[in-house]
Amino acid sequence: MKYQTVRDADVKGKIVLVRTDYNVPIQDGKIVDDLRIRTSLSTLEYLLEARAKRIFIISHLGRPEGKANPDMTLAPVVEVLKKKLPKCKIEFAPLPKDGESMKVADDAKVVVLENLRFDPGEEANSADFIKNIIDATGADVYVQDGFAVIHRAHASTSAVAEYLPVYMGLLVEKEVENLTKVINKPEKPVLVIIGGAKVDDKKPLIDEFRDKADTIVVGGKIAADGYKGDNNIYVAEDFDKDAGGAKLDVGPLATAKIAGYITDAKTIIWNGLLGKAEDPAYATASTIVAEMMGEKDDAETVVCGGDTTGFVETLMKDHPNLKYSLVSTGGGAALEFLVGSRLPGLEAIKCK
Ligand code: 3PG
Repeated sequence: MKYQTVRDADVKGKIVLVRTDYNVPIQDGKIVDDLRIRTSLSTLEYLLEARAKRIFIISHLGRPEGKANPDMTLAPVVEVLKKKLPKCKIEFAPLPKDGESMKVADDAKVVVLENLRFDPGEEANSADFIKNIIDATGADVYVQDGFAVIHRAHASTSAVAEYLPVYMGLLVEKEVENLTKVINKPEKPVLVIIGGAKVDDKKPLIDEFRDKADTIVVGGKIAADGYKGDNNIYVAEDFDKDAGGAKLDVGPLATAKIAGYITDAKTIIWNGLLGKAEDPAYATASTIVAEMMGEKDDAETVVCGGDTTGFVETLMKDHPNLKYSLVSTGGGAALEFLVGSRLPGLEAIKCK
């Protein structure tokens, strides 16, 4: 499928509504991982260079269930964005009330609206809710750049297409291109590394790649809890344990085996940490996988899932030599993409 991207849109002098996913982890009012903000910049910079008149950014944060909740305001995100785009005037604005038009400074180039999910209309995929935002902002064009929310049929991802031409943003383009590459005719051998805690979350991925992958490795709590492998599924066989005998990391035998698979693989998808990696004592297997994948220059390497990408991002700060084809911003969205689910936010984008 060939989608129309922001490069195909006529944006000069236009008001552009950009859907980002700024659902970022916040602790004590501080953003602890800004991957989703950093990766939104390419589209914003493109639009500014292409002389869009003004950009209105819409996003959600958390699950406030249709009510305003100060713990889930997008205000901290706006502060980070101001630092990332220091040359342009950025404003923060509340969601417009029914029939109200937005009041912003004449020289404001970027306006970030408050959390869409403070209104029940967003998750209800309400056409009226998004129409009100379009009317209030005067938007001419819409750009979908919130890859992490592309699997949701919400007003800002789905109903919006009733009113505006929908173009793909540069982040969504990168995610879609890389994930498509590993699904459609990936170079073999294909290795899928799965960790994490909840087997039900990972089952669709295991089922999807059972025939497509040469090897599926299962580690993390799923393996520690006794997941049974078969055929091409290798389940970690030994573990590092704490004093009480709890299995908290994949052990040296399994790690060596996984390292061998990584060396041979030409396509690697990694989702889920292999141990309780927030404790450095149990981060060894995940660190080895992250380093080996990041040092490989002969393979397509995709990292997905919030915990896993957060871990890799932290490691990359100290090891800037590590490079991946894609560190996906999509948690659930990347998994849904990989298993071929319907993605309403993608269906809304214009095709060529
Ligand atoms: C995410 O973080 O996975 C996305 O922002 C989607 O959030 P949701 O699961 O609350 O819809």
